[in-house]
Amino acid sequence: MTETGREKLRRLCAEDIPAATQLSAQAAWNQTAEDWRTLLELSPEGCLAIEVDGHLAATTTLLCYGRRLAWLGMVLTKSEYQRRGFARKLLTHALEYADKMGIATIKLDATDQGQPLYGSLGFRSEQEIERWSRPGGNAAQLPAGRTSVEEPWRDLDSLVFGADRSQLLERLAQLNPPRSLSQSYLLSRPGRVTAYLGPCISENLGTARRMIEECIQNTRCAWSWDLFPRNQDAVAVARDLGFSPQRHLVRMARGKELREKEDAIYAIAGFELG
Ligand SMILES: CC(C)(COP(=O)(O)OP(=O)(O)OC[C@H]1O[C@@H](n2cnc3c(N)ncnc32)[C@H](O)[C@@H]1OP(=O)(O)O)[C@@H](O)C(=O)NCCC(=O)NCCS
Repeated sequence: MTETGREKLRRLCAEDIPAATQLSAQAAWNQTAEDWRTLLELSPEGCLAIEVDGHLAATTTLLCYGRRLAWLGMVLTKSEYQRRGFARKLLTHALEYADKMGIATIKLDATDQGQPLYGSLGFRSEQEIERWSRPGGNAAQLPAGRTSVEEPWRDLDSLVFGADRSQLLERLAQLNPPRSLSQSYLLSRPGRVTAYLGPCISENLGTARRMIEECIQNTRCAWSWDLFPRNQDAVAVARDLGFSPQRHLVRMARGKELREKEDAIYAIAGFELG
């Protein structure tokens, strides 16, 4: 796409997955090769990389949920290449692509390191978001939920999330079948270090609690769960089940105002997914 000296900005591709997984692991993130594959399959044109001398140096992904919303994630620069403007270049490219596609709103979940950069690109802070964890062993095996005839998110998810992310949910459900109960659903997936709980959408506290309890009970692995502290019901369930806060991020947005109904979001899908 663009090339200057030893450095080349181009699309991320399937051959990059091992190096990309190393990059996210170096930042101590929990994503697996399968998570990178999900992003690449759902958004082949939105996943960008900078390589230096043929080696992956930085990444950014943009996942479009129709024209209403796109999600930025996996903003990572290898430590030896940081502070050379790589993240800014990738983000500028991704934002140009989103503008060309006519995307109304772009969001992301920002770490402390990323916030000044996003602020300078026109993102505003919306609300806090936290990673909660529960200790345990490794996350290789996960109990599957029950496969349902109809996707349980069909009616509720886009109302609560604010955009249609059914393609993402279908892909996650193929990896590990969902749990669903009275118009509510919960997905989970393996992670690099801990199992990942989410997304979980429900308008009923008792239903959400039951699905989450069923999902983690009898598992010995450690779990991660990303939630909005504003959803006090989610916080209460997390605490009751032995989770505690680990990391603090900020949800940021650019473009048209689009708010999720956080009262019904017990767990997000992932910092890189929304
Ligand atoms: C955040 C990160 C992606 C920045 O990558 P980078 O390629 O070094 O960023 P750039 O060189 O494009 O710098 C962009 C701006 O961010 C600022 N910045 C970069 N690293 C920073 C840091 N560690 N702390 C505070 N500000 C930082 C710079 O001041 C720069 O602003 P400027 O252009 O006005 O000078 C990189 O530090 C990283 O991979 N961190 C770990 C993963 C992470 O937290 N990613 C963000 C997820 S939301």
